[in-house]
Amino acid sequence: MNRHSRYLQQAGWTRDLRHYVFTKAGLAEAKHVLEVGCGTGAILADVKSDAALHGLDIDGDALREARIHAPRICITWGDALRLPYPACCFDIVYCHFLLLWVIDPLIALIEMKRVTRAGGYVLALAEPDYTCRVDEPKELAAIGQMQTESLRRRGADVGLGRRLADLFDRAGIHIVETGVIQDRDAASLTPDEHEKEWAVLENDVAGLMPDNDIRHVKMLDAQAWLRGERVLNIPTYFAWGRHLR
Ligand SMILES: C[S@@+](CC[C@H](N)C(=O)[O-])C[C@H]1O[C@@H](n2cnc3c(N)ncnc32)[C@H](O)[C@@H]1O
Repeated sequence: MNRHSRYLQQAGWTRDLRHYVFTKAGLAEAKHVLEVGCGTGAILADVKSDAALHGLDIDGDALREARIHAPRICITWGDALRLPYPACCFDIVYCHFLLLWVIDPLIALIEMKRVTRAGGYVLALAEPDYTCRVDEPKELAAIGQMQTESLRRRGADVGLGRRLADLFDRAGIHIVETGVIQDRDAASLTPDEHEKEWAVLENDVAGLMPDNDIRHVKMLDAQAWLRGERVLNIPTYFAWGRHLR
C-alpha cells in the first residue's frame, strides 16, 4: 500500500472525531487554518471550510503529492520545531499522527500555540500508544510487538499518545477535551481493510521475523478474524485546547 492510501485509511479511523472537534473549535468561522505535518494532504483534502487552508511538512516528496490531492491548499516546506509563520496568525492549528515522529513534541506544541491567535485552538487529533497495544488471540502478540519495535527503530515515540495531555499542559495550552478515540475493532474490518492491514504489517516486520513465521501468523490471524475473535486495539489519543493569553 502506498503512503497516501495508508494516510487515507488512518483518516477514515478519525473522521467522526475530526468533524466533532473542528465544529467545536469554530471551523465554520475560521479564516486561517494550518495542519502541521500534513504529509500527502489526506486530512487537508477532507477539511470542509471556506478558510484559507495551509499545510506544512518536512518531507518535500509528501508535499509534492499533497499538491495533487489537496490542490487548493497553501503548501509550505518547514520544520514543526521552528514554524516559518509569525505569531498569532491562525485560528486553528492542528496535527494528526505527527507528534510521535518529531524529536521534541513539546517544542512542536509550543510552536503550534505560538502561531495560533489568542482565543484560537490547537488540536492534536490522533497520537497512538503502541505500548498498550492488545492483540488477541495471544499467538498474535509477538507480531504486534515486532511492529511496535519496527516503528521505534524508525524513530517513533511509540508511547506518545498517553503523554499527550501532559504535553498540552506543559506547552501552556488550556485543554478543552482529551481522551482515547476508539477501539479499532479488527473483527469488524472488511476483507479489503484486513488485506491492507496485513500489507502494512508485513512491510513493517520484514527482516525482523522469518518469512515462514509471518505466513503462519497471517494464517492464525485470518482464522481468528473469520471466527470474529480477532482483537487489535491500539489506544489512540486526542487532545484539543485553547491558546489563552
Ligand atoms: C504519519 S504522517 C501523517 C501525515 C498527515 N498528518 C496525515 O495524517 O495524513 C507524519 C508526517 O509528519 C511529518 N513530519 C515528521 N516530522 C516533522 C517535522 N519535524 N516537521 C514537519 N513535519 C514532520 C512527516 O514528514 C509525515 O508527513
